[in-house]
Amino acid sequence: MRVDVFFTPHHLDEMDLREKKVVVIDVLRASTTIVAALSNGAKEIIPVATVEAAMKIVGNRDGEVTLLGGERHGKMIEGFHLGNSPSEYTEERVKNKSIVFTSTNGSQAFVKARYAKEMLVCGFVNISAVASALLLEEDDVTILCSGRDADFSLEDAVCAGMLLQKLIDAKGQSVTYGDTGAAALVLYKSQRRSLQAMLARTEHGKYLKAIGFGGDLKTCAGLDTLPVVPMLIGNVLKIRSSDNVALAP
Ligand code: MLT
Repeated sequence: MRVDVFFTPHHLDEMDLREKKVVVIDVLRASTTIVAALSNGAKEIIPVATVEAAMKIVGNRDGEVTLLGGERHGKMIEGFHLGNSPSEYTEERVKNKSIVFTSTNGSQAFVKARYAKEMLVCGFVNISAVASALLLEEDDVTILCSGRDADFSLEDAVCAGMLLQKLIDAKGQSVTYGDTGAAALVLYKSQRRSLQAMLARTEHGKYLKAIGFGGDLKTCAGLDTLPVVPMLIGNVLKIRSSDNVALAP
């Protein structure tokens, strides 16, 4: 199994990811929020790159059935129903709802991977479930970190390293990787003692704390607290199950 790690989607073209099995990581916070929403019974998440596209898709649809979720600069977008804090995506708010979702970096990575053979969403909250899903098959894997503003982010790289380590633990030397994978492993090993403390030291962690979302760091550091795997089916994210794997492209 070959595992390629990309620290940002910036230089990739969506065609580069065609035919690949891609795992998108945006620990703070899009991955965590999407996993929380689906865990709490959201019917589906529709990831889009821009606020305009989100508004267009929702159109006149009733807010009872379809919600707009996401952020710009970490804050809820005017006219949206939900921001990008996992704590907002409670069962009460999201059960059976479709959520059109846009975020600054995470959504850009999801959209880049839209033509992938398979696209899964990973954070610390579901990392073992994602590893188990990957280990069901022998396919090569591309781990795509969302990064921050087209640049590297430590939290996504550490999560990528942890996921790679889980695959190595399960499959040993048959897992191969390049220099970015090796760097992700080093970062993971240096930070694994306290994921929450690591998040608090990151640029985005500090920013979230400054704008009043410091509580989200604990949620986003929670290891395997929400063991579901979001998977892109058509243009919507749903919980991966044996039923819907058959529907994937
Ligand atoms: C993003 O996609 O850039 C993040 O999820 C931002 C955030 O923390 O809201």
